[in-house]
Amino acid sequence: MKKTDKKIIEEIIRVDHAGERGAIKIYEGQLLALNTLRKDEKLKSKISDMKHHEKEHYEFFDSEIKKRGIKPTVFLPLWDLMGVGLGFGSALLGKKATMLCTASVEEVIEDHYKGQLNQLEKDEKKLKDKILKFRDDEIHHKDIAYESGASKDGLYTIMDKVIKTGSKIAINISKKI
Ligand SMILES: [Fe+2]
Ligand SMILES: [Fe+2]
Repeated sequence: MKKTDKKIIEEIIRVDHAGERGAIKIYEGQLLALNTLRKDEKLKSKISDMKHHEKEHYEFFDSEIKKRGIKPTVFLPLWDLMGVGLGFGSALLGKKATMLCTASVEEVIEDHYKGQLNQLEKDEKKLKDKILKFRDDEIHHKDIAYESGASKDGLYTIMDKVIKTGSKIAINISKKI
């Protein structure tokens, strides 16, 4: 059986661990705004549900990090801060921006996970199956975001591009260190 390169596995787990944690932080930031300055119970319940899935994703990668002795990215504290900031800021801007934040991130993650699925060989079947399942969850989140008002009209296209670029930079850094 063809084996997956160990370095590739480490990069995949390190970056996904960071990304899923970032997703939780974005939702925490959004919930903070929705609990205080911009009360919206309906949006809150959608975000809480999605956060619940991200927690399941994060816990899987966190246990893999420990089991395989992989070093998490050193930038976790920075991503935490930026995630909460992005979440809080987007929620303050309103429902369209809140949901666009999810849509933009998930569009990056959908591709990102697809790339990883192509890199993993059959010897990493369990990891592959998990990523496949998580990718379906993220696509579902993206659909919820568009159904709930995510918009790329006008100035929102700029926000979409900024979030996508930021996410891609964070991904490239978190793979390596
Ligand atoms: Fe996730
Ligand atoms: Fe998600």
